[in-house]
Amino acid sequence: MYTGKARAYTNIALIKYWGKKDEQLILPMNNSLSLTLDAFYTETSVAFNENLTEDQFFLDGMIQESKQTKKVTAFLDLIRQTYQVELFAKVDSQNFVPTAAGLASSASGLAALAGACAQALNLNLTDTDLSRLARRGSGSACRSIFGGFSEWQKGSSDQTSFARSIDANGWEDELAMLFVLVDDGVKDISSRDGMRRTVETSSFYSGWLDSIDADLRTAKQAIAEKDFIKLGEVTEANGLRMHGTTLGAVPPFTYWSPESLKVMQLVRDIRKNGLPCYFTMDAGPNVKILVEKKHLTALKHFLAEYFSSEQLISAYAGPGITLLSMEGSENS
Ligand code: DP6
Repeated sequence: MYTGKARAYTNIALIKYWGKKDEQLILPMNNSLSLTLDAFYTETSVAFNENLTEDQFFLDGMIQESKQTKKVTAFLDLIRQTYQVELFAKVDSQNFVPTAAGLASSASGLAALAGACAQALNLNLTDTDLSRLARRGSGSACRSIFGGFSEWQKGSSDQTSFARSIDANGWEDELAMLFVLVDDGVKDISSRDGMRRTVETSSFYSGWLDSIDADLRTAKQAIAEKDFIKLGEVTEANGLRMHGTTLGAVPPFTYWSPESLKVMQLVRDIRKNGLPCYFTMDAGPNVKILVEKKHLTALKHFLAEYFSSEQLISAYAGPGITLLSMEGSENS
């Protein structure tokens, strides 16, 4: 039996990953840039065990059906194939989120699984190797190997596609992200299916790709200059452009709900009142607001008029992946 355990934090992209050029290897169409956060993380243990006759995936103590297990078993198959392991595995994942509001993330989940497998099989991987490996589980997971800001360099092969840390000289500790959990009701289209449909059918997709280099340059410049407004503006514009591509898909779709639009408008209003803050969204209706730590309380105060405290979740910059011993103490 081989066992390993790891903890990884989720990350939110400021410059989004949206579209693959290789579905099998998970090579992205464009570079992306994210902030790893402290408030949401996953702890995963894995045990490759000769007594198992199939993989088992437990999430928060509950055994999962094959639909939920798909990314996990695909990843375990990759591990078995790459490292000549012939055993099935039991995967035990715990999502640490401030509420049960569906904020589970494949970024933290698959990064933690990659770390746990590396630990179990004694692979002695560098962060770069681990980032490459996590990428094969879920693209965004490759950025969760690192704390603070990181950039996923798209590369052109399995070897050359991985994330690396961006040194912000501690500026990340002055930032916060406020999650606004809005009522869902929208039919779920996973990020994987959504980006595939967009790449294959959206007439707006080429415009998205054309804008990436400039957005990335601006974001990296803003980080180097510690220029919050510059970073916020490009974050908001890039997120809107990503969501714009879904409207040009066939059939068209959107992740926005009426409540998401309400939050976007409130953010614009709050900004007009002199408090700098900027929104971004992923493959779901929740809105994330980038704000300086010093303005977080004021921002929450404004929004408290419209949303309950359970709907407003604060996060700060978080650390990179940690490999744990099976008892839970840190190993590296
Ligand atoms: C909108 O990493 O979940 O959150 O690689 O297919 O597993 P797969 O997709 P995933 O996509 C994340 C998309 C996004 C933007 C981002 O995180 O960059």
